[in-house]
Amino acid sequence: MSAGCSFHAPFVLVTGGKGGVGKTTLAASLAVQLRAQGLSTLLCDLDLGLADLHVLLGLEPRHTIEQALAGECALADCVIAGPGGIDVLVGSNGSSAMANLAPEARTRLLAALAELSTGYDIVVGDSAAGIGPDVLALGVLARMVLVVTTPDPSAAADAYGLVKALVAESAARGLDLPTPELVLNQVSGAREAELAAARLAAVCRQFLSRSPRLAGWVPRAPRIAEAARRRVPFALSGGPAGAGSGERECLERLARRVVLGLGMESASTGRGGNPAQDWSCS
Ligand SMILES: Nc1ncnc2c1ncn2[C@@H]1O[C@H](COP(=O)(O)OP(=O)(O)OP(=O)(O)O)[C@@H](O)[C@H]1O
Ligand SMILES: [Mg+2]
Repeated sequence: MSAGCSFHAPFVLVTGGKGGVGKTTLAASLAVQLRAQGLSTLLCDLDLGLADLHVLLGLEPRHTIEQALAGECALADCVIAGPGGIDVLVGSNGSSAMANLAPEARTRLLAALAELSTGYDIVVGDSAAGIGPDVLALGVLARMVLVVTTPDPSAAADAYGLVKALVAESAARGLDLPTPELVLNQVSGAREAELAAARLAAVCRQFLSRSPRLAGWVPRAPRIAEAARRRVPFALSGGPAGAGSGERECLERLARRVVLGLGMESASTGRGGNPAQDWSCS
């Protein structure tokens, strides 16, 4: 169990069983969207060994989480201003030490992250793919876990595997895991998303007695890939009613579900956080 850390803002983990399904893309734009809805938002690169959020966002970090863990700076020093008014906690890329954190270092990181959350309404984490120890530790700590998958059967199988591993991890730690929610990415439309989510939920119900809901979906859109090439989150690409408004509507719906699922006030009516509530990770 991660020792005694307590999040002051709700922590939403964007994760997924399979690599390349769009976790980083969606985490970045979700954070920007939550900020646009009035929530002060910290976006954290928690893909610890292969952090690439700063690349996607065109940021040039001075410090990374690795340096903070080495005692060379504070975790707060690794936070830089990102697009759309979000703050971004930057990780390091290509560090096998970070990809294989010792439990003690992981515990220190989680405690520092919890402390850092004090200044925000909401914290969004982008994780690595898979069911490694970092993903599981972060998942059982999160107030909401968004499992990103595509309709591809192997991605869906890995999403199921991740939910299963999270359920087992939380049971082993004696924690109460809120049922993870699904985000279908790269779909042709609502129907494909709903069908894929229903299939996955049925398997989870049968074998895990959990019924993950569909938190949202995002279409496969060349404009999303194009925005990534320009190093802009798709939440900020195009005009309000111009190109890309379809995917941004999907994003708005996803952000609304996150706010609702966390039991926060509508952010657009002001600061929607619930700073009085601690999300304990112990
Ligand atoms: N809805 C979408 N439509 C089109 N392209 C997309 C969409 N979502 C993601 N992509 C593209 O898919 C690629 C992988 O996305 P991303 O890096 O976000 O995945 P990931 O799950 O974070 O990968 P990793 O497991 O390596 O961290 C990127 O090139 C991204 O631009
Ligand atoms: Mg990623």
